[in-house]
Amino acid sequence: MGIEILEKERIFCLTGKSVCYVIGVNEFGYPECLHFGLPLPLGELAKLRNPRLVRGHSVSLPGTADRDADPSQMLMEVGGCNSGDYREPSLALTVADGSRITDFRYAGFQIVGERNCRQMPRAGGGETLELFLMDPVSRIRLVLQYTVYPDTGVIVRTARIDNQSRDTVTLDRAYSFNLDLCNDRYDLICLCGAQLRERSIVRTQLVPGIHRIDSKRGVSSAQRNPFVCLCDRHADENAGAAYGVTLLYSGSFALNVELDECDHVRINGGINDFGFMWRLGPGESFETPDCVIAFSKEGFSGMSRAFHDFFRQHYMDPGQVFRHHPIVINNWEATYFDFDEDKLKRFVDRVKGTGMDLLVLDDGWFGKRNDDRSSLGDWFVNKSKLPHGLKGICDYCRAKGMKLGLWFEPEMISENSDLFRAHPDWCIHAPGRKSCVGRDQLVLDMTRTDVCQYLKDVLSQHIEALDLAYIKWDMNRSITEFYSPTLPAERAREFFHRYVLGLYDVLRYLREKYPHTVIESCASGGCRFDGGMLGYSSQIWTSDNTDALSRASIQYGTSYVYPLSAMSCHVSACPNAQSGRVIDLADRFHIASLGTFGYELDPGSLTDEELARLSEFNEQYRQDEDLVLKGDVYRLANPFEENLFAMMLVSRDREKAKLVVMVPVCQPNGTIRKLKLPGLDRRRTYSVRETGQQFSGELLASYGLVLPGLRGDYKTVVYHFKAV
Ligand code: DGJ
Repeated sequence: MGIEILEKERIFCLTGKSVCYVIGVNEFGYPECLHFGLPLPLGELAKLRNPRLVRGHSVSLPGTADRDADPSQMLMEVGGCNSGDYREPSLALTVADGSRITDFRYAGFQIVGERNCRQMPRAGGGETLELFLMDPVSRIRLVLQYTVYPDTGVIVRTARIDNQSRDTVTLDRAYSFNLDLCNDRYDLICLCGAQLRERSIVRTQLVPGIHRIDSKRGVSSAQRNPFVCLCDRHADENAGAAYGVTLLYSGSFALNVELDECDHVRINGGINDFGFMWRLGPGESFETPDCVIAFSKEGFSGMSRAFHDFFRQHYMDPGQVFRHHPIVINNWEATYFDFDEDKLKRFVDRVKGTGMDLLVLDDGWFGKRNDDRSSLGDWFVNKSKLPHGLKGICDYCRAKGMKLGLWFEPEMISENSDLFRAHPDWCIHAPGRKSCVGRDQLVLDMTRTDVCQYLKDVLSQHIEALDLAYIKWDMNRSITEFYSPTLPAERAREFFHRYVLGLYDVLRYLREKYPHTVIESCASGGCRFDGGMLGYSSQIWTSDNTDALSRASIQYGTSYVYPLSAMSCHVSACPNAQSGRVIDLADRFHIASLGTFGYELDPGSLTDEELARLSEFNEQYRQDEDLVLKGDVYRLANPFEENLFAMMLVSRDREKAKLVVMVPVCQPNGTIRKLKLPGLDRRRTYSVRETGQQFSGELLASYGLVLPGLRGDYKTVVYHFKAV
């Protein structure tokens, strides 16, 4: 485990849990990927080499007689520009003389301890290798960083660009990583969708050309998640090789997958280069976001477990990630803007004693916000709705044994707001142009320090005055008019990355100042569900679609990358507000219980019997919560491919497990379905709470569990396994 270096051979081997990444500096000074996959015998590292062929119509490097010194055939760690590598570059910069040629060659290495970059969320711990590469003509140094962990199957990569010249250079593209692999008849998987159907799994065959997954929206987006996976053609949820890549970044991003004529696959990406540019003065450095690369031989579930381990053990706030998450009741779908103090009190009275921890007061408590057309930015209480102020309802909750959480949409400003009237220049705008509106709102210019300071102050005031246990940080539109009059013209295209840095600055400030306050991130539901936001918020509202059938798919896709505890999931009312579907309360609970849990309904509309069920659900959730927070995920049936959803959570010690199954559409006289259950200890015997039966782990893994026939649509069944 860790980093092994063969200095003479210039080979660097990073070994983590079931993963190994080997870099070799070739005879021309280019670091190449020699291997990415299962751990290798260290004694044989020196035998690794990437073959090359002499090809017609290729170029070879200057100063060498080798006709096979063709950069386009090398499995590069940096995708260069204009120096014979014709694939997508990972770095493109323009130097003072206007040329755009770079040729980065190896110049040394070092092993570093804790990495230090406060601008962006960073993975902590592990062991980090830094490779130094130099372009001697431009005097730009590139530092490639690789971090490896003994207990997770990921490699974290990033790049830093140091301008050691006397001139300013312009970065046109500054990706976080470049990964070149030999194709093995791979398929490509990405998570695409739209608001209300976020992160659908899309699998295609990899074909020659470039496949680009990106967002130009200023947010990572619901349309395309910053994730891509290459897998064996026959890989499935629990078998086969899967390489997953995700970015710890929340703004416009790009991930390119290129299959070339040599049957090499290049994956690279980071901050989207569309509309991007960065001026780097002499002596300055530019840091790219972290990228996490997972490998597993145990299919997509194995890849997900590697990501989940990484997020939980080395990235997300340790004070938040494993603690009991509050069970919340949120008033949004129950009231929308139509609430007052009495109604909220009735909520609290009704759920008192059922095991709810927190009331989330959603949109509409401030300014003159009675619909979604005004008041964003006016973060002072609407006394006509809450005559005793926020304190009144906060104290009321406390008296009933609950806490208060509060909704904000900090990055936004309504034209009809006091804030806009006082600071019309604070919104994103370009002189002489009308700005697009989304949900009738404009976006604050987060590149401005005065705007960020205002947000820090106003949020701090509320958190402190109410001792808020939770804030919901919403963001309900994509960004347009990427421009700030405060940036000089030559820096105009730094805007969207600076926006993200401004956002991270405010979030980091709050996270550090109020470590006990939960920040739930949200963007019209799951339009900004990414590793960047997980650096500051321990849970993200997964989707505004709370229909349990839709949610089963959304949560299934989201779990490809993100841990279950990061997914905020609520039981809502029926007919469902988005789909109109009616699904039994218990079935809604079973799906919502696969994440950070809560409710989104009017408890006054529930019968006493239903309310009693809520108490049971909350108790059940608390019993199983450890599995959500710490368990290993095994996905067993993919609802994007068949009429079945099945997901199992297994405790790390293999003592207990929970299997949740949903059959979307009942098929009378349908086929018998057996599910093989990997992940349990094959040598132990398990009792099934719901049936009283006992099975060995061996039998469950090799033969499987026969599912019962379920009557009715959207029916779920849950089994709890306990080692005897
Ligand atoms: C979008 C969120 O996703 C909802 O949960 C709710 O908070 C609304 N915004 C409020 O405007």
